Amino acid sequence: MSSAATRQMFRAAARVAAPARRNLSSAPLAASRSAFRQGANSGRRYYSSEAPKSGSSSLPIWLGAGVVGAGAAYYYLTQGAEAKDFKPEFKDFQAVYNEIAKALQENDDYDDGSYGPVLVRLAWHASGTYDKVTGTGGSNGATMRFDPESSHGANAGLINARNFLEPIKAKFPWISYSDLWILGGVTAIQEMQGPKIPYRPGRLDRDFTSCTPDGRLPDAAQGADHVRNIFYRMGFNDQEIVALAGAHALGRCHTSNSGFDGPWTFSPTVMTNDYFKLLINSKWQWRKWDGPKQYEDKETKSLMMLPADIAFIQDKTFKQTVEKYAADNDVFFKDFSAVIVKLFELGVPFTEANPTYVFKTLEQ
Ligand code: HEM
Repeated sequence: MSSAATRQMFRAAARVAAPARRNLSSAPLAASRSAFRQGANSGRRYYSSEAPKSGSSSLPIWLGAGVVGAGAAYYYLTQGAEAKDFKPEFKDFQAVYNEIAKALQENDDYDDGSYGPVLVRLAWHASGTYDKVTGTGGSNGATMRFDPESSHGANAGLINARNFLEPIKAKFPWISYSDLWILGGVTAIQEMQGPKIPYRPGRLDRDFTSCTPDGRLPDAAQGADHVRNIFYRMGFNDQEIVALAGAHALGRCHTSNSGFDGPWTFSPTVMTNDYFKLLINSKWQWRKWDGPKQYEDKETKSLMMLPADIAFIQDKTFKQTVEKYAADNDVFFKDFSAVIVKLFELGVPFTEANPTYVFKTLEQ
């Protein structure tokens, strides 16, 4: 039989096995329509775990029996195999996504009801150490597991996110910490109703010798010049910096971590453009308190902004982008997705062979 005919048989057999396989694997065998649509827009190939919808539907009956038999053999050899037979080429990243998403649902007693924000922050702090000149830092390595990086002031509290992901790592030992932490951020954003964040695995863990020096992450007490210095070092422009800062729609400051206190928005576990709306539309005043200098909203005094956040409306160039995102959530989501993929991939030596996944959310 020609190899084309064999492939056709396997595709048909895969359709027979698809309902079961969907629960077992997200290996990039098939691309969903929506993923293709996004791929077409960006020039990349995207995959999800959805089974193919097209293909041969007119096989003669006599071939059908053969197809099912071959399908069973193919299915056993690949997707149907037990964990002991696990083959690295069938790493199931959607299964890891689902496990993180379920853990997020089950552990709703943390902070404002979700570990999501702190997972996003872990992924960002793992990536945000990148230096484009030396090529050091970035998410490849997961060096925050080690001292001195784990003890850097900016990383206070991220132990909660790292510990949250430990049972997932135990269940899927084949995934590197570096890939897992980024997948944690991707899952958290999507499960908190944010945009789809295309994900490429391929990061490898490194040891403590690759820890980056302290001071590579932004200092919240400083203004626009400092923010630009930090993010230009990673290779971002002004528009991208503002888009990234929109993540402060999520989560809160903790006096026990940074000394600062409070959330930026009224819905800190839902991804929105509210951070930008509030920056523009609320009146911000210095909070009078026995803590580091921060702003509070004049009306309710229940929200906060850091000096580094207020820099986005003090600086004219930054402010134009803040206004753009405050006016249009779709534009913000599109730009945020693009720029956070860039952040998460800084310094990661991907090859052409690295597939890109677009994961289904748990409720989808
Ligand atoms: C100007 C740059 C930035 C500064 C100065 C800054 C500063 C801070 C500070 C001080 C906290 C509070 C930490 C705590 O007390 O637990 C925080 C939290 C957070 N940051 Fe940023 N950040 C910046 C950019 C970003 C970026 C680029 C992202 C993601 C793309 C991000 C995502 C978050 C999230 C999600 C939280 C909430 C964490 C939680 O609730 O535990 N931040 N940030």
